[in-house]
Amino acid sequence: MKILAIETSCDETGAAVLNVTKNKIQILSNAIATSLALHSKTGGIIPENAARQQLKYIIPVINKALTQANISESQIDKIAVTVGPGLIGSLLVGVETVKTYSYILNKPIIAVNHLYGHIFANFIGKNLYAIKFPAIALVVSGGHTDLVLMRDKRNINWLGGTRDDAAGEALDKTGRLLELPYPAGPKIEELAKTGRDNFRFPRPLIDSKDYDFSFSGLKTAVLREVQKIDRLNNQKISDLCCSIQQAIIDVLTEKTLKAANEYKAKSILIGGGVAANLTLREQFEHRINNELPKVELFIPERKFCTDNAAMIGTAAIFNKETKWKYLHANPELYFD
Ligand code: KG4
Ligand code: ZN
Repeated sequence: MKILAIETSCDETGAAVLNVTKNKIQILSNAIATSLALHSKTGGIIPENAARQQLKYIIPVINKALTQANISESQIDKIAVTVGPGLIGSLLVGVETVKTYSYILNKPIIAVNHLYGHIFANFIGKNLYAIKFPAIALVVSGGHTDLVLMRDKRNINWLGGTRDDAAGEALDKTGRLLELPYPAGPKIEELAKTGRDNFRFPRPLIDSKDYDFSFSGLKTAVLREVQKIDRLNNQKISDLCCSIQQAIIDVLTEKTLKAANEYKAKSILIGGGVAANLTLREQFEHRINNELPKVELFIPERKFCTDNAAMIGTAAIFNKETKWKYLHANPELYFD
């Protein structure tokens, strides 16, 4: 079965073609038209600008994905699309495009929750039965920080999430204080390599009994430190980056391992743009090996952590089909 998948929930415009066999997913193409250059000019995403750019990109990106996969539109069996959560204007670009394709080609649609996409990115390239349940999944992106319990692929319960800023948002906002380019996550990772964790920023809610997170205080703590420093030289910026990154990783690892322990998880799945961070990946691996050696850790390849359409096509495999008439964008969509 061949699936054409579309992702336009935030700033990127993605289209992918997947070939699904009984046990495995093969990614035939995964095209992305990035709007990062546009958003870095404004230091963040202006929703109206994002949607306008996506409107220009969507058809060329779909054509690129089909060409790279070496198939024609008529060879597609189903069309998957992100319906939420996300920016309404951006979501509508994908949803309305898919409705039109579905109507013209007479192909069914599969609506996909973007957050499920980040989690199911962990199935790419693996046997579909490789991940053992129960599992704890952590979504860490620019818009979300959520911990969920998966009793199996479709039985998902939300355990907790951020009360304010998401982890990626905290990186992007503190990065702005340090005058780093948007999105700051990758740059903070790079600078942190030559930094020391000298600032020891607070680790909010690290010992709380729930599975909530809070990262907005970190921004204020960084601002206070920056105001205290006379001259912000390169070493100080690297030290700040190292301390910011470490504070976030400490909270994420602690809470995820606590949930895995409590729910006797067999697997831990991580997804979302922040999961591309190599230090985060290493520290999760290290702690799980030492503290929960029977638990298997899954993190997607880095290119499948940040927003992409291949992960949407993968999550779609486990969803029901719908008709174009019943498809709606839902910016508020959460774990259902
Ligand atoms: O999943 P994603 O592409 O979009 C959302 O759904 O939000 O995540 C984007 C976020 C941004 O905040 C970006 O700074 C962060 O992921 N990010 C990283 C890295 N690459 C992207 N954060 C830390 N280290 C990275 N290497
Ligand atoms: Zn995302």
